[in-house]
Amino acid sequence: MSGRLEGKSALITGSARGIGRAFAEAYVREGATVAIADINLERARQTATEIGPNAYAVEMDVTSQASIDAAIAAVEEKTGGIDILINNAALFDLAPIVEITRKSYDTLFSINVAGALFTMQAAAKSMIRRGKGGKIINMASQAGRRGEALVAVYCATKAAVISLTQSAGLDLIKHGINVNAIAPGVVDGEHWDGVDALFAKYENRPLGEKKRLVGAEVPFGRMGRAEDLTGMAIFLASKEADYIVAQTYNVDGGNWMS
Ligand SMILES: NC(=O)c1ccc[n+]([C@@H]2O[C@H](COP(=O)([O-])OP(=O)(O)OC[C@H]3O[C@@H](n4cnc5c(N)ncnc54)[C@H](O)[C@@H]3O)[C@@H](O)[C@H]2O)c1
Repeated sequence: MSGRLEGKSALITGSARGIGRAFAEAYVREGATVAIADINLERARQTATEIGPNAYAVEMDVTSQASIDAAIAAVEEKTGGIDILINNAALFDLAPIVEITRKSYDTLFSINVAGALFTMQAAAKSMIRRGKGGKIINMASQAGRRGEALVAVYCATKAAVISLTQSAGLDLIKHGINVNAIAPGVVDGEHWDGVDALFAKYENRPLGEKKRLVGAEVPFGRMGRAEDLTGMAIFLASKEADYIVAQTYNVDGGNWMS
């Protein structure tokens, strides 16, 4: 049986670990060739090796235009063009409003928002040149659906991702490029280990407690796993999603309704 992404060329930012890695594994299983594009080249190489011959590592820093352009060029050279982009790389931070620093704000907006926008732009230019359309999936978050007292900057970046998905979706569909987004809830992994440690600091909790609490609050009954998101990522990249434009889908065990 052939896969749903047979012969497709995908680039997934921040896919050396976590959700991006699960997407890369799923895409390869569905027949795609995947660029594991990450600022951590060593880990990207290791991940690509573990996934197999249809995954390859590309060094990419989404805060650098030169690096974005080089990554897109590397994909074009390796596979002849890009069919699917997942804007997955992102950074999290946490602080009460009165303690937010300019540095944290600039770093998060530079990766989560400008990184997603200019990677989307470079991929779209490549897709338009080739004339075969494409699929772009942005990683939003339930954090982009509403504010959180300690998470102002990250929430704002993810609200911006939802907004950019809407504008880019409306602009690029005339080229046959579908732009949509996925909004996960709380997904266990190295990312949430870091989030848990920050909540431990600011809410004065033992390590691991915040994770237990957020997991217990999910209507499904547990935190998400990266694999819980792969079905939506495959679907949005597939032909079945051709008529879906500028949407953000919650995949969060029932945490949020919108
Ligand atoms: N884990 C969750 O609970 C959760 C919830 C909602 C949304 N999300 C979103 O899903 C996506 C993936 O999350 P995750 O949990 O797998 O994160 P993660 O922290 O485990 O992985 C992020 C990856 O991005 C890479 N990266 C960091 N800066 C980069 C840069 N400048 N250029 C290129 N790569 C860079 C890191 O090296 C890492 O491999 C993110 O957009 C995140 O905001 C995650």
